[in-house]
Amino acid sequence: MTSLTAPSETGLLQGADWWRQAAVYQIYPRSFADANGDGIGDLTGITSRIPYLQELGIDAVWLSPFYPSALADGGYDVADYRDVDPKIGTLDDFDEMSRALHAAGIRLIVDIVPNHSSDLHAWFQEALAAPAGSPARDRYVFRDGRGENGELPPADWESVFGGPAWTRTPDGQWYLHLFAKEQPDFNWQNEEVREDFRRTLRFWSDRGVDGFRIDVAHGLAKDLTDPLPSAAEIARITEPGRNPLWDRDEVHEIYQDWRRVFDEYDPPRIAVAEAWVATPRRPRYARADGLGQAFNFDLLQAPFAAGPFRDIVTENLALSAESESSTTWVFSNHDRVRHATRYGLPLILDAADSGEQTRDWLLRGAPEAELDRDLGLRRARAATLFELALPGSAYLYQGEELGLHEVGDIAPEARQDPTFFHSPGVDVGRDGCRVPLPWTREGASFGFGSGEAHLPQPAWFGDASVEAEDDDASSTLNLYRRALALRHELQTGEELEWIEALTGGDVLAFRRPNGWTCVTNFGDEAVALPAGELLLASGPVDDELPAATTVWLR
Ligand code: GLC
Ligand code: CA
Repeated sequence: MTSLTAPSETGLLQGADWWRQAAVYQIYPRSFADANGDGIGDLTGITSRIPYLQELGIDAVWLSPFYPSALADGGYDVADYRDVDPKIGTLDDFDEMSRALHAAGIRLIVDIVPNHSSDLHAWFQEALAAPAGSPARDRYVFRDGRGENGELPPADWESVFGGPAWTRTPDGQWYLHLFAKEQPDFNWQNEEVREDFRRTLRFWSDRGVDGFRIDVAHGLAKDLTDPLPSAAEIARITEPGRNPLWDRDEVHEIYQDWRRVFDEYDPPRIAVAEAWVATPRRPRYARADGLGQAFNFDLLQAPFAAGPFRDIVTENLALSAESESSTTWVFSNHDRVRHATRYGLPLILDAADSGEQTRDWLLRGAPEAELDRDLGLRRARAATLFELALPGSAYLYQGEELGLHEVGDIAPEARQDPTFFHSPGVDVGRDGCRVPLPWTREGASFGFGSGEAHLPQPAWFGDASVEAEDDDASSTLNLYRRALALRHELQTGEELEWIEALTGGDVLAFRRPNGWTCVTNFGDEAVALPAGELLLASGPVDDELPAATTVWLR
C-alpha cells in the first residue's frame, strides 16, 4: 500500500466541511463480506476488509441498515434502532469496525429509517396489543375501515411496493404502510416518536458515527385529516408541498430539529436526504439548517448522452449553490440496476430510465443477446471518471469498482426482495444488485465467506473478483483506485467551467481549478484527443479519444 494519499494528508477533507467533496462508498452489509461463514455478510467481515477500502481511496463508508430486522425489506424494516442485528454482529463489533475505519482515515455514515419501523418493533407490537384510540396506537397511523363493518381500507391507496397501503389488524382497525405491510408508518405528529429519533441520532453520534443517510426523507410529515382523500384525488394535487403523503413543507421542521442535535457534536454530524422529489424541491432538504445534503439521482436516471449530462450538471450546481450545499452524484445503489448493465442495453439510449426499463428486461429472463456487456462497462467507466471529476460528493455502490453487471438469472425461489413478491410479473425486484461480492476467483462464494452466499452468485463472478482485478493494470478496480487517488490530489475548489471550444456534439469537456480537465466522448465514433498531459483514461487511448471514453488532462 504505497503512495496512498490518506484523507488527513490532503487537508481538504478535514474539519467540518469534509463531506462537501467526499467519495462515499455504500456497503450493503449482508452482501459485502462474511467473516463467520454463515452466508450473511457481517460487521467483522467489513472490519477485515478495511485495508481494501483504504487502498481503494474512499473518504467515507455509508452503511445500509445493520439493525435487528426480519429482513422483510432487506433491513429497511428496523425492529430496534439502537442495536445491531445478531445475524450481522454486536454493538462491540460495531465499535471495533468504527474504530478501525477511523484509524484508516475513513468516516462512517449510517442509514436511519424514520418513515416506518418493522412490524416487529416493540412499539408496533405494543400498538397491536393496545385498544383503538390508545397512546400506543397513536405512534403509528391506525384508522377504522370504511364500509358497513369497517371491512374496506380507510383509503384506496397503493403501497410503493404494490398492493394496498393499509392492512387490517385482528381487532378490525387498519394501519398505514406506504411500503411493505411489515413496515408500518410512524405518526410524526406524535412527540414520543420525535423524541425517540433524537435519542437514536445521539446514540450513534455518541458512538462516533460521522453522519446519517436519511431513508425516505420526503415521507415523514403527512396530512391525514379525515375524510382521507382517494388516490385519484391525491393524484390531482399538483401544488408543491400540498400532497398529503409526500414532500410536505412541515417535514423540514423535523430536520431543523435534527440539525440542532447534529450541531451538539464537534464536528457537527452530517446528513444526506434520500428524497425523491421534483428537482427544484431538493435544495430545501440540503439547507444548512436542515439535513445539509440531498441525493441527486438525475444522472442515474439519464441516458448516457452528452446533452442530458451537461444539463443535469449545470442545473444541479445551481441548485446546490441555492442551498449553500454541495451536490451529490450517484449511478448505482442497492435499489437500482447496476449502471454497467443499464448502459449495455439498447433501450436505455432512447429514454431516461430509472431502472424500470432494465427491470423489465430482467423480468423477460435477461436475454443475454440484448446486453452488450463490454459496451455497458466501457460507458460505465467513462461515466464514473466524469462523475469523479465533478465538484460535490460521489456516492459509489459496492461492486461498481469491480465493474460488476447486474445478476439477471436469479431463480424465483432464491429471490428475497419484497418488490418481486408484491408485484408478481411486473417487477423483478432489486436482488440482482445485492448479490454478495466476489473477492476471489474461486472457492466457496468466491471468497465472500467460507460457506454458500445468501443470494446465488453467477459463475462469471470469479473473473470480476477483487483477486482477478487486483494486479490487472487495466481492470476497473485499478481505474477506481487511480481515479480516487488523483481526485485527492487535484480537488480544491468547487468551481466547474465548461470548455466550449472542446464541447459539442457527443463531447463534453470541463475544467476544474488548477487546470484539471475532464473530457468525455459519449458518442460511437472516436474524436480528436485534446491537447494536454494525459493523467488518466477510462479505456485505451491512442492519438484519438475513442467512443464511450473519458480522459483527465492537465
Ligand atoms: C429506500 C431504500 C429502499 C427501501 C425503501 C423503504 O428507498 O433505499 O431500499 O426499500 O426506502 O425503506
Ligand atoms: Ca456472517
